[in-house]
Amino acid sequence: MTGTGDDLAYRAALGAYATGVAVVTARDGAGATHAITINSFTSVSLRPRLILWCLGDESERYETFAEAAYFGVCVLGTDQRAIAARCAQSGAEFDEGLTEDFAGAPVLKGALARLACRTTARQTHGDHLVIVGEVMAFDARAGAGLLFYRGEFGSAGAS
Ligand SMILES: Cc1cc2nc3c(=O)[nH]c(=O)nc-3n(C[C@H](O)[C@H](O)[C@H](O)COP(=O)(O)O)c2cc1C
Repeated sequence: MTGTGDDLAYRAALGAYATGVAVVTARDGAGATHAITINSFTSVSLRPRLILWCLGDESERYETFAEAAYFGVCVLGTDQRAIAARCAQSGAEFDEGLTEDFAGAPVLKGALARLACRTTARQTHGDHLVIVGEVMAFDARAGAGLLFYRGEFGSAGAS
């Protein structure tokens, strides 16, 4: 698979880069919690603690996540594969009972690692909005991590 014009081939090339899987959680203006599955999460800086993720401009939940002043990044364990699938679906009902407040941001109960973030920068690049957040609080637990590789979920580490 070579060439520059083939989107499928390009996606396949990117899919060779294995990532973890996270859910970003945020509240909309009415206070309802929303959750979107992502793998664009990256650590940017250790001092200060900055992270980023990228939000696609065709997301039905774009406004909520683009405008959120606070958000959670919840790194999923292997046992949370169903949550990853659900939060990737447009219009899927999200059970707010799955979340709790953590330093002002909603986060998923039981996630492998949770980061409570305050939005510090937003910048559009192509068809995605890059959202940078300062980490206000974090926690983590032991367990196997959920992976995404060549379009499939997998697992890393011992549970
Ligand atoms: C493993 C995985 C990783 C994803 N990563 C991202 C991401 O980094 N950014 C993003 O905007 N959407 C990402 N998506 C897509 C969203 O989860 C969601 O499917 C998409 O936004 C369409 O739903 P919506 O229109 O309701 O938001 C990912 C989906 C999966 C399954």
